[in-house]
Order: sequence, then C-alpha cells, then structure tokens
Amino acid sequence: MKASGKHLPKVYVTRRIPPDGMKILRQSGCCDIEQWDSDDPVPRSELLKKVVGIQGLYCLLTEKIDKELLDAAGPSLKVVSTMSVGYDHLSLDEIKKRGIRVGFTPDVLTEAVAELTVALLLATSRRLIEAVDEARSGGWGTWKPLWMCGSGLSGSTIGILGMGRIGEAIAHRLKPFGVSKFIYNDIAPRHELAQKISAEYVSLLELAKQSDFLLVCCALTPETHGICNKQLFSNMKSSAIFINTSRGAVVNQEDLYQALASNQIAAAGLDVTVPEPLPTDHPLFTLKNCVILPHIASATVETRNAMAALAANNLLAGLKGEPMPKEVPL
Ligand code: DGY
Repeated sequence: MKASGKHLPKVYVTRRIPPDGMKILRQSGCCDIEQWDSDDPVPRSELLKKVVGIQGLYCLLTEKIDKELLDAAGPSLKVVSTMSVGYDHLSLDEIKKRGIRVGFTPDVLTEAVAELTVALLLATSRRLIEAVDEARSGGWGTWKPLWMCGSGLSGSTIGILGMGRIGEAIAHRLKPFGVSKFIYNDIAPRHELAQKISAEYVSLLELAKQSDFLLVCCALTPETHGICNKQLFSNMKSSAIFINTSRGAVVNQEDLYQALASNQIAAAGLDVTVPEPLPTDHPLFTLKNCVILPHIASATVETRNAMAALAANNLLAGLKGEPMPKEVPL
C-alpha cells in the first residue's frame, strides 16, 4: 500500500485480534497491514514466509519469536509488539542483538487475572467442579455432613510466589475473606508492593511450609523454570492448595501429578500448563483434585480489548521511533 507515493512500513498481525487493536492500527494510516485472519494460530511455515521484509510484528504468546524467525524477517524488522504481559516466547538476546524494540501489555490485565485467580482458588478449594459434576450425574444423594468438604479462606495463610502487580491485586481481593497472613517469595524482597498488603518476605522453603494456599504469579524466567517441583510439593502441608496462573513451565507437571495423586497436597488449580492445550488424555485430567482451565485469566472482553489496543499503540510508537506506552527494557 502507498500513501502520497510513499511506501508504508509493513506490519504483520499474527491472529484475529479484538476490534480496538485493529481499529487503532487501521486508523493510524501509517502502516501496511497484513493479518492472519483466524482465531487459530498461523502455521509456523506461513509465519516464516509472512515476516520476510516486515518492519513491525504484532504477535501473541503462541508465537515463538526466535533466531529462525528473526533471520527470516531480516534487518527490516524494527518492532515486535506482543499482546501479552508475559514475554517468555520472545528470544530477547536475539532481539536485542538486532536492535529491535519490544512492546508488551502489563497493567491492563492485572484486575482480570487477579479476579480469575480468586475464582480458580475458590473453585479448587470449595471443589466446585467436582460438586457440579456430582449434582449433574446423580451423585447428590442427600445432604451429608462429611460430603464435598473443602477448605475455607478465613484464618488462612496465603503464600504468593512472585510479588508483582498481579500478586498484590490478588491479595487485595482475598483480604476481605478473612485471610490472617500473607507471605511471599521472589528473587528479592519487594518492600513497596508487599507493604501495601502487609505481606512478609520468606524463603521458598518457608513459603512451601507455611502456605495453606500457594499462588504462583511469577514470570517465567530461567530462574523460575520448574521451580515448583518435588522438593517444593514435599514441603507443603497435606491440606495445602496450589494455584498457578502464571506460566505452565514454572511447574514440573510430573512432580505435581505425583503430589496430587498421592495426596501429598490437597488440590491444584491450573490456568496454564505445558503444553497448551493440555492433551485431553493427560494424567492431570484424571484427578478429581485438579481443576484445569484453558489459559483464560485475562479473558474479559474489556481486558482483551485493552491489551489489543495497548499492543497496537506500542507497535505504532515503535515504528515512528517514539517512546512506547509499555516497552520491555532490553
Ligand atoms: C499474558 O498476557 O501473558 C497472559 O498469560 C495472557 O493474558
């Protein structure tokens, strides 16, 4: 596409995205947009062809932006904008080497993710999915004093692994349930955030030992990869509940399966897994004490639109050489 005889920068959008994002890109009139117009991911071979010679890439967490893709795109690529807060799918070293700038979407999804984490926690701790299944399938005999009992939040200790904006927002929502103590672990104490929710910094071992509910909200990095493993689970209370809304790869799923199957811990709620989607014949699906959601923590209409819009504005700012609203420091 040309405007007043000038070639516009080429942008590739890897998926059908919420309308606010597309509107911003189109109305800017300052890029030539090509899009994979589908709800399903663009096949890798197609993506490798489509990125050749582009200046801007608007992608999702499902696309691996690695050396192979960056080589295919070539030196014209100036901006990668991901419609996600997590950016573990981007090879930052390779991106940095090439002087490419990166946009991401923090903050706009904090509330939605915190809300879903609370929902998943309650669904798991109060055994909601199991209970609905029983009611539907005739397992509801009569009111029984010992049946379908879970654990309550009142008086509990909540452990947060990864104290960031999302961890803080979750704690705010949980406090009114009568939680008595918040503890957290991170690579270093985060005093400013932790103060807001009166959370105490503890070692990972103490987090495992003391938490009635252990919530994982950390980013996936080489340090957090597989951090929730046999050692962590074996130090948790047998009544403890484990919740993960960050990335599946922070958990060693085999170890989690063993911990749940042997009742070493009481239950787990997962919004993220490896791989995604988790195959329907995966052993974790056989467990009644494991609630699995299909990575929907940020899935509200408003939030997804806000993410799409922020990613579009990041991309446009990057193409113009201006400061991005939210840029990953490289
Ligand atoms: C993200 O943005 O990284 C979430 O996992 C999906 O919203």
